[in-house]
Amino acid sequence: MKPIRVGLLGIGTVGGGTWEVLRRNADEIQRRAGRAIEITVVADKAVAHARKIVGRRARVTPDAFEVVRGPDVDIVVELIGGDTVAKELVLEAIRNGKHVVTANKALLATHGNEIFKAAQKKSVMVAFEAAVAGGIPIIKALREGLAANRIEWIAGIINGTSNFILSEMRDKGLPFAAVLKQAQQRGYAEADPSFDIEGVDAAHKLTIMSAIAFGIPMQLGKAYTEGVSRLTQEDIRYAEELGYRIKLLGITKRAKHGIELRVHPTLVPTRRLIANVEGVMNAILVKGDAVGTTMYYGAGAGSLPTASAVVADLIDVTRLITADPEHRVPHLAFQPDRLSDIPILPMGEVETSYYLRMQVLDRPGVLADIARILADGSISIDAMVQKEPGEGEQRVDIVMLTHRALEKNVNAAMKKIEKLATVVGKVTRIRLEELL
Ligand code: HSE
Repeated sequence: MKPIRVGLLGIGTVGGGTWEVLRRNADEIQRRAGRAIEITVVADKAVAHARKIVGRRARVTPDAFEVVRGPDVDIVVELIGGDTVAKELVLEAIRNGKHVVTANKALLATHGNEIFKAAQKKSVMVAFEAAVAGGIPIIKALREGLAANRIEWIAGIINGTSNFILSEMRDKGLPFAAVLKQAQQRGYAEADPSFDIEGVDAAHKLTIMSAIAFGIPMQLGKAYTEGVSRLTQEDIRYAEELGYRIKLLGITKRAKHGIELRVHPTLVPTRRLIANVEGVMNAILVKGDAVGTTMYYGAGAGSLPTASAVVADLIDVTRLITADPEHRVPHLAFQPDRLSDIPILPMGEVETSYYLRMQVLDRPGVLADIARILADGSISIDAMVQKEPGEGEQRVDIVMLTHRALEKNVNAAMKKIEKLATVVGKVTRIRLEELL
């Protein structure tokens, strides 16, 4: 059989890895796919750099549109990133009947509905394993391996940069800003580092997983997004003392009245496996009603790990290219005409447990006032620690863990607590999940 012809858009970190993996494992890939997979053309603005990598083994062009329209390409691999030019290129590739493999989480989370609709119309595949958690085959697991299950929830460490920052802050006691610099030097950070530290990158990946897990459209705009940029040493230390570790989690959950879709720092019991995932590694827990809790761990970024996912998609598309479109795995795991309109819950309607830290004047009755406000909001205290005041200090830190409560009740209680004359400044709130 003739080789499958691939047009590669972008030969940077992941593109270079894809080129290498396809060459290095060419024999095994051919044995798996049933035919050879060859990159025949590479589009990259840095033409000289691209030529240096591919030599005479592929054509190089600065014009990506030429590739997506070219008659000599069966599959387009989009590794340009962003959601402007990449969107035009992907839609143009689809219009020209090309199958698409992309690692572009921002693009899919933002414009996935439009892209999948266009792909369905043209009966082409859009594969995106590399868009979520790099080398971890989580899309395959959710869409196929767990297809028997009613998915209950997903909770994942899906931004390596944030996890690295939290690990270093805890291990080395370094402040946030110093660690961020190191993370950027490691080359994992997004082009816009605020995407990592404000939770946006994790929200992109979570939105994609949520859509596949629950059979709902992509709804990035409804994701609650809070990153690690405001976390302090104090909270990391207090959490440790209480038996918890703080992780930036992407959580999506089937609740009574809708779907929760949220990214935020989260206290997780230290004894959980996921609490011990350190540095830039990623891990995702998926709870299915039949299988129970499963966990997927691995490199969430980097040249070869991400290429592993891109090439797996290329093999999948190659295997299915002659299959009747009806018999392919649907893009969002569920048949496109069977997507659910179950709503994404606003954050106020989310129910979880909480870590609350406040600074109070060490006077009689302070605790009673706070406890009363919490009780009025139906918020039950699970544990409480009062820190010793420093020498000559009037102020003490109080840390409370609550049982599960409605977020809007916690918001209202926090406001009331902050108004007490005996409470200094703002209440720090971090959500807590047992992940059972
Ligand atoms: N910036 C991302 C991370 C890269 O830190 O995990 C992979 O998407």
